Amino acid sequence: MSKVTVLGSLNVDTILQIPRLPQPGETLAMTDKRNAGGGKGANQAISAARSGAKTSFIGKIGDDENGRMMLSFLKDAGINTDQVTVSGKGTGQAFILLQESGENSIIIFGGANQEIKAQDIENAKNTIESSDFIVTQFETPIEQATKAFKLAKEAGVVTVLNPAPAHKDVDSALFENVDLITPNETEAEILTEIKVVDEITAHEAAARLQELGAKNVIITLGGHGAYYKTATEEKLVKAFKVNAVDTTAAGDTFLGALVSRLKKDFSNLEEAIIYASKASSLAVQKVGAIPSIPTEKQVLAALENDKA
Ligand code: RIB
Repeated sequence: MSKVTVLGSLNVDTILQIPRLPQPGETLAMTDKRNAGGGKGANQAISAARSGAKTSFIGKIGDDENGRMMLSFLKDAGINTDQVTVSGKGTGQAFILLQESGENSIIIFGGANQEIKAQDIENAKNTIESSDFIVTQFETPIEQATKAFKLAKEAGVVTVLNPAPAHKDVDSALFENVDLITPNETEAEILTEIKVVDEITAHEAAARLQELGAKNVIITLGGHGAYYKTATEEKLVKAFKVNAVDTTAAGDTFLGALVSRLKKDFSNLEEAIIYASKASSLAVQKVGAIPSIPTEKQVLAALENDKA
């Protein structure tokens, strides 16, 4: 069983279901509204845990109902929350405009997620060093991600960066400690200035990310699949075709499921990507982030079903 530590965000998502995005100055009626657990960090950790990884979380909540709710979601998934601490700021929130097409637009309140300090990473040193993988994103301070990845690399832990939400200038001090980077096509374009529209441009963007310092790259291409590039291999792994009702957390589900399967030497990368793609294809068929993330049993049953 893989040991995975996630350093990341915890958000309560308010999902506003709308027929389409409103025009400036327009008032539009929503068709439904609900709250669900989310945050890129929480989604990735819960995906890893539901797929069987022994998972720990490093993060911050506020001293409020939302924080207590997020903590209980992590605990219910069997995640070690010893390194989840309380900040004076409110728990992170996301406001998600979910269109009928399944596409979403997200507005974030960082709150407690932005309060992770160097001391929190120091306090989590043992947790980080005893992991197989550490995973992080850009919804918590990049400075602390850089510190955590440096510690992890010194201890032989595999580092995985999901560069979301996209940032243009990522410090080389972080890049040089990244074993695997997993942008979607938009994030890849922002990082490399190469517009990813097909396999050729995915190759170019992945090669550029390797020049910047990331050792291995997976660019997720939504319904087209996932393109991977290591030092010796590259390939587009096709997506499973499904009817998406909500793409929120599709990438997070993919990443958590991926690290739950991946061997530290990446020798089973393609097999892990197929498993992760199946997990993600199940998640997009339900509304909400945490409520939509499948278990290992569900993913394996769906893969088995495809063979029948
Ligand atoms: O990646 C999806 C997540 O992004 C949502 O759950 C929301 O909280 C935002 O952080």
